[in-house]
Amino acid sequence: MSATDSLATGPTSLTEYRALPSEELDLRIRRAKAALGKDLVILGHHYQRDDVIAHSDYRGDSLQLARIAANLREAKYIVFCGVHFMAETADILTSDDQMVILPDMNAGCSMADMADEQEVEECWEIITERFGESIIPVTYVNSAAAIKAFVGSRGGLTITSSNAARVFAHALEAKERILFLPDQHLGRNTGAACGIPLSRMCVYDPKEMLLEYPHGEADPRVILWKGHCSVHTKFEPRHVRQAREAYPGIRVLVHPECTYETVQLADENGSTDYIIRAVQNAPAGTKWAIGTEHNLVNRLAQEHPEQFIVSLNEMICPCLTMNRIDRPHLLWSLENIIAGTPQNQIRVSPNIAGAAKVAIERMLNIS
Ligand code: 13P
Ligand code: SF4
Repeated sequence: MSATDSLATGPTSLTEYRALPSEELDLRIRRAKAALGKDLVILGHHYQRDDVIAHSDYRGDSLQLARIAANLREAKYIVFCGVHFMAETADILTSDDQMVILPDMNAGCSMADMADEQEVEECWEIITERFGESIIPVTYVNSAAAIKAFVGSRGGLTITSSNAARVFAHALEAKERILFLPDQHLGRNTGAACGIPLSRMCVYDPKEMLLEYPHGEADPRVILWKGHCSVHTKFEPRHVRQAREAYPGIRVLVHPECTYETVQLADENGSTDYIIRAVQNAPAGTKWAIGTEHNLVNRLAQEHPEQFIVSLNEMICPCLTMNRIDRPHLLWSLENIIAGTPQNQIRVSPNIAGAAKVAIERMLNIS
């Protein structure tokens, strides 16, 4: 079947898309984009596969993609090559007549899934009973829309890894303590970057429903939800030491979802956008060991042959959910839009979207 046949007859099943040869996938994606013109924008997170990112109109980190989505006026269809919470954020920030599509509904985020709405409510009850009204809830954008809404309706806001320190400082001016969801590592690293000692950060365990004080029971300024990223926690201090032994002079650059111990040993840490800019701005001959998702590290190595770039841990698995988005799913989504049968629309219910938008906009206004 040729690309034009498929546009005429409508999409077949995903299984058939998976069987298409590579050149046909690229050709039909390009044709579908041309057919949809200004009605379509494809957004791609930096962790996407190369062959998907090649078709994106914009690529960025989660903050940049949220900003781009908020400013899209013409596009009727926003196909989000990223994970579920990012597509939800785009839906919240776009108008009702725009449709956000996630090419594969299985592209979630295991960290975002670690904060469940009911558990967060239980936590809030426990900590407000203990600390009264002294707490502001702050959630990483890597969380479900319902968690953003929870935070927004209690005077709180969202953060991303590229504005974390600024948002933390802002939140700590408003209240004495922060409840930070759902990534304990980003929260701990950001608290430390803001000068808060580890002894003033405790951890809330949602399964045990109790507070843990790993560094002594001092009055906490940050209450960290016990969540983590299963990709970034695989970059350990021993990998930093091994990289320095193997490649003297190498700079270690990690994402702040890595553990506190790894971040402390690294030379630099920052969001995906920060990592890209650090490499782009470095002189030829710089050596890097980078602790973040493999697709981004490999792309940086290809785009910067003048520098030496390796993964801080070659043995880790990629982010499996980010990698769910592939060209067959992308093409299937685009041809379904053309056929008038769009699939996988991400629709946040209006009662959640309103409060979640408040939390996101509070962040956008200060970053
Ligand atoms: P950024 O905010 O740096 O894009 O990271 C998102 C993410 O999911 C990191 O694991
Ligand atoms: Fe979620 Fe981690 Fe994947 Fe980022 S890398 S999308 S935090 S599981």
